[in-house]
Amino acid sequence: MLEAREVVKNLHAYRPPLAGRTGLRLDFNESTVGCSPRVLARLRSLDSELLARYPEREPVEKGVAAFLGLDPAQVLLTNGVDEAIHLLSSTYLDPGDEALIVTPTFAMYAIFAQAEGARVVEVRAGDNFTFPEKDLRGQLSPRTRLIAVANPNNPTGAAVAGNVLIQIAQAAPQAAVLVDEAYFEFHGETVIQQPRQIENLFVARTFSKAYGLAGLRIGILAGAAKQMAMVRRVASPYNVNAAALAVLPEALQDQEYVGRYVAQVLSNRDKLQQELGNLGLHYWPSHANFVLVHIGPAHAEFVQTLRKRGILVRDRHTDPGCAGCVRLTVGSDGHTENLIAALRDVFEQLGLRTGLPTGARA
Ligand SMILES: Cc1ncc(COP(=O)(O)O)c(C=O)c1O
Repeated sequence: MLEAREVVKNLHAYRPPLAGRTGLRLDFNESTVGCSPRVLARLRSLDSELLARYPEREPVEKGVAAFLGLDPAQVLLTNGVDEAIHLLSSTYLDPGDEALIVTPTFAMYAIFAQAEGARVVEVRAGDNFTFPEKDLRGQLSPRTRLIAVANPNNPTGAAVAGNVLIQIAQAAPQAAVLVDEAYFEFHGETVIQQPRQIENLFVARTFSKAYGLAGLRIGILAGAAKQMAMVRRVASPYNVNAAALAVLPEALQDQEYVGRYVAQVLSNRDKLQQELGNLGLHYWPSHANFVLVHIGPAHAEFVQTLRKRGILVRDRHTDPGCAGCVRLTVGSDGHTENLIAALRDVFEQLGLRTGLPTGARA
């Protein structure tokens, strides 16, 4: 009888709640307004000839590298950051190796590492989800071959200074250190220029968030040319589809559109955080396009009640250290106004104003 590998049988199935996502989607940190009209126009102009051909990644990769100020040899376009994580895991992890992650964090690091037979070493974030630099250093071993850090982190919104990550990469030269900058546009700080000096440092970016292209599946992995040559060996030559490649240059060119959306999100993030504070809730100040908030024992009812009002938010109650917490994506002005109005109502409706632990470490 055919049996999957033992490590695969032991994986927990990760099923994000994708079904029935109609309404205002504030549950996956996507853009709430979608991509630039210029990107959509380019998409609509595609013809059957383009779709008949295998996609050619390299010319677009060159343009992306120029946009980032990197050499093309340092850049690989990927099927979203998810694929970048998968490729790094395949390139560097042998069974029994260790992958270090800081929890709570994005689920796919552990999944792809475990699928290679690696042991995932979880380092819990400090109070208020601060980066546990000392504890992480304490877990470094000769078997540490992957360290994955989302900066800013999901679901907490916490950020760590780039120099801390660089020092960790220097302290673990035997490990691939992935700095996942999926939310870079909302944070503005990057270490993407560093792989020139630090050969084991990699940076991932995505077009799924600020650019509003999660459905197209496109991301970037950047690293030292020598290491990227190894990563390319395990990547399919056709990993990025022709439609994504065709519209990517347009997406990069229309920085005005992205900049305008990011500016809205940043201002609305302030407004939302202020409102959460006014409601007497503990939230964690965010560097990304979402805010994690402590609702308490009524977290599931809170999510359900918002859903009935047509607003989807994400229950993060089961993430390590996140008991009673919910994550709210921040979007456009109108969408944030809707969210804030609904929050006020739901608070009254559920009687959440009384008896809530505030300022608690979840
Ligand atoms: C930290 C982080 N990395 C990566 C991703 C996935 O990115 P992509 O859509 O490019 O695979 C997400 C999506 O939520 C994320 O939060």
